[in-house]
Amino acid sequence: MSFKDSKVAIIGAGNVGSTTAYSIINQGLCEEVVLIDVNKDKAFAEALDMAHSVYFMNRNIKVHAGDYRDCTDADIVIITASAPMPKNSTSRLEMLAPSMKIMKSIVNSIMDSGFNGILLVISNPVDIMTYYAWKISGLPARQVIGSGTNLDSARLCCELAKLYDLDAKSVSAFVCGEHGDSEFVVWNSATIGGKKIDDVMQDNAPRTGSATKQSLLKMTAQSGWEIFSRKGNTCYGIAASATSIVKSILFNENQIYPVSVNVDGVYGLQGVFLSVPTIIDKTGAKEIVEIKLQPDEEEALQKSAAVLKSFYKELEM
Ligand code: 2OP
Repeated sequence: MSFKDSKVAIIGAGNVGSTTAYSIINQGLCEEVVLIDVNKDKAFAEALDMAHSVYFMNRNIKVHAGDYRDCTDADIVIITASAPMPKNSTSRLEMLAPSMKIMKSIVNSIMDSGFNGILLVISNPVDIMTYYAWKISGLPARQVIGSGTNLDSARLCCELAKLYDLDAKSVSAFVCGEHGDSEFVVWNSATIGGKKIDDVMQDNAPRTGSATKQSLLKMTAQSGWEIFSRKGNTCYGIAASATSIVKSILFNENQIYPVSVNVDGVYGLQGVFLSVPTIIDKTGAKEIVEIKLQPDEEEALQKSAAVLKSFYKELEM
């Protein structure tokens, strides 16, 4: 892989897939972007529309619709396709049954192309779908990553930044575990400008107001639903999250993101995909960063792992 000829294929040209493609193009991250969708007209139209936008971008990028043969030499394949989330859904886990067959067919088609790059799974329920994609693909675990709680962590940082009128990038806080109801915040290592969150909240009581760690976690976990219930999807946040992971891979950045990876032998866990801080480089999930957890955080992680593993028996291998 080199800056010159890097290629990203995106399975699913819906809101998330198309917005992710546009976000990658906007940042000029690669040489070629391919959109693949069962609805060929949709993929063609999204790709052609984006190809016209390249005229205004700071780098010439080849954007086109394609098929699974385009995965053969792709560095990264991003999977965004899933069954539609029913309007009255209250949990991403409800998408497992209808989306499982789609995921199995997609991963088999990708692997039939001879693909040996990095799979980035966004499709929900993302942690279980990432585990499933790993099992079906047969790829080494480090080459299969789920977007996980990378976006949840950004959402939490945005909430905290709003409280204290800061740039969200000055907040360092990880949401870990399931991208869903059992996610939790590693408050013990959360800081703002190097200052522990407890001290920030205490020393700035007027700005902290009625915000508590519990209310901040609740608001973070609910964010996706606040958006989904009003516009029927989310796309910009998840697309930017995926783009940050793609950038760390293609540019070998060694960024640390809370993404869904195979946690085996660390944090006292075995064989489960969920989000923990992970170093992302050109090989994929290079290394898990094992941060010190408080007992309640330990417990929350084990609970999240148990929730996710309880669904593995429903997966048709
Ligand atoms: C979200 O929370 C799509 O699950 C993703 O926005």
